[in-house]
Amino acid sequence: MSYRERIQQQLYRLQPRLPLPDDEAIAHSEALYRYLSTLVASAPVPFSAYMNELLYAPGLGYYSAGAAKFGEAGDFVTAPELSPLFSRCLARQVAEVLQECGGQVLEFGAGRGVMARDMLLALAELNALPERYCILEVSADLQQRQRETLAVLPAELRQRVQWIETMPATMTGVILANEVLDAMPVTRWQWRDGQLFELGVTLRDDGEFDWQEMPPSDPLRYWFEALPDFIKQALPAFYRSECHLWQAGWVQALAAMLERGLAILIDYGMPQHEYYLPERDDGTLICYYRHHSHDNPFVLPGLQDVTAHIDFTALAEQGLDAGFDLEGFCHQAAFLQSLGILQEAEAVGDRHQQLRDAQALKRLLMPHEMGESFKVLALGKQLQQSLRGFALSDQRDRLG
Ligand SMILES: C[S@@+](CC[C@H](N)C(=O)[O-])C[C@H]1O[C@@H](n2cnc3c(N)ncnc32)[C@H](O)[C@@H]1O
Repeated sequence: MSYRERIQQQLYRLQPRLPLPDDEAIAHSEALYRYLSTLVASAPVPFSAYMNELLYAPGLGYYSAGAAKFGEAGDFVTAPELSPLFSRCLARQVAEVLQECGGQVLEFGAGRGVMARDMLLALAELNALPERYCILEVSADLQQRQRETLAVLPAELRQRVQWIETMPATMTGVILANEVLDAMPVTRWQWRDGQLFELGVTLRDDGEFDWQEMPPSDPLRYWFEALPDFIKQALPAFYRSECHLWQAGWVQALAAMLERGLAILIDYGMPQHEYYLPERDDGTLICYYRHHSHDNPFVLPGLQDVTAHIDFTALAEQGLDAGFDLEGFCHQAAFLQSLGILQEAEAVGDRHQQLRDAQALKRLLMPHEMGESFKVLALGKQLQQSLRGFALSDQRDRLG
């Protein structure tokens, strides 16, 4: 079977009417598939290593290469892409912190650069421009798209933008990460008949990737031992899920870098007692191809996004352990409403934009859309004021 036929078959099994990628995309996927096959050919590799290569292998991975990814023509839509209202509200929270402690903004994983563009325009209106707006983006392809998006800004704003390759030694100001943590590789684990396994990836004789039980790594074992007893005792005889071991190191690095200011982390996910519910027995891993979601990370390599929900209890604990203060936690809808999204929408003058915003507001705020599935977690250092974004709702107590 040719590689094109393999992709056709995979797509048909997912949903018969999904569009076939063009020749260039299929060739790209084949190159990544060959690379991944070599990687796992001699021995299974942990899923986190497979996911890292699948998404970020230089020049090949889903995020590193040229697929459309974002927006209606891509695979998924993120909140800043839906409407400038999202970034304009977030800018109010950023401005409040910058007014207290000054400094810069550092955005991780800026996608196409839409949030950076709208945020800078809004901060200029609020008279709260940061000294610098730094972007740390692991994908060279997306860095290029960010440069194109930000090229439309007036020079006064554009010259504040700087792309950096690594975290600075220290900074004061605001760190932003929207849908970045969900794009970091996760460790996949399995509980079977009272025993913990790490899930790895192997290559079957028919050339398809598959799950393979492996002994758990030490970090996974320590993590599992530290899970609350009420969660472990309720696990059914067969249970699969994920944990975010890579994220812990990232949060520690943030804490070491931020001397004063706030990190605002926005993503889909839930507190730990909901994450590891007995009935969620296949975890939260989810893949997106042209707005169609499913749970098979082994098909369509390089053509689909692979992501997992965030355990916000673990994220808060990682933050506290690293020396942050927990400044707030709530649903995205409450956060945006605290920051005046409805008033912001009413003030829009352009009729076409009003119509687009009406649709966007539904997606951003409705509970069954992004409103409740997305959460906002704020980790701070040396801040005096309470944050306006959590004025209507602060659910830090739900994290325990
Ligand atoms: C789902 S996209 C979200 C993009 C954008 N923030 C948005 O909301 O539209 C994930 C982004 O995170 C980036 N990314 C993933 N891991 C990263 C890391 N460790 N540091 C910086 N960027 C990262 C990806 O390359 C991509 O730009």
